[in-house]
Amino acid sequence: MNINKVINERFSCRKYLAKKISNEDLNKILKAAVRAPNAGNLQSFRFLVVTDENTKEKITSACLDQRWMMQAPIFIVVYSDLNVLKEYYSKKYETYGIQDTSLAAQNIMLTAFSLKIKSCFVSSFHEGSLKRILNLKKELEPYCVITLGYSGESRVTRRKSLDTFIIKK
Ligand SMILES: Cc1cc2nc3c(=O)[nH]c(=O)nc-3n(C[C@H](O)[C@H](O)[C@H](O)COP(=O)(O)O)c2cc1C
Repeated sequence: MNINKVINERFSCRKYLAKKISNEDLNKILKAAVRAPNAGNLQSFRFLVVTDENTKEKITSACLDQRWMMQAPIFIVVYSDLNVLKEYYSKKYETYGIQDTSLAAQNIMLTAFSLKIKSCFVSSFHEGSLKRILNLKKELEPYCVITLGYSGESRVTRRKSLDTFIIKK
């Protein structure tokens, strides 16, 4: 699928079918994730792939109980190993952790869409609960949970006109 089509047609999907995602497609998605630009090529991003229903249930409740999430067969929790960044960037390591994981998340969502797999970026969660559930130590910071699955839904989420965003000097 052409990159422009992927970017223009991707949307945050909150209705999924029970159909499973193949390991082959999941690998393509994860390989794309690590191709993202990242600070100093330190590759601080980590991807926790969750298919266990019980763990999904706990993650969903940490995500302010967004019940629709449970329909998705796979959750990918994207987190940063801040230890890796802290060593080189004593001031900006937290910012870089967010930026590294966000860029990887976008690669995940766009690659998934190109494979006809829908997604949603979820970051309304109770951080302490999520870390506890996943047993993530102090410097392992989760920044988003991405739901992945097939869906019958397709729609475009509107944007304001381009002029709103562009400032020329
Ligand atoms: C930082 C961030 C946090 C988000 N958190 C949630 C969330 O917790 N739950 C949810 O359903 N969508 C969440 N979204 C998805 C946005 O609602 C969605 O991207 C936005 O409404 C634009 O719609 P679109 O992705 O379909 O273009 C989040 C997106 C971002 C970038």
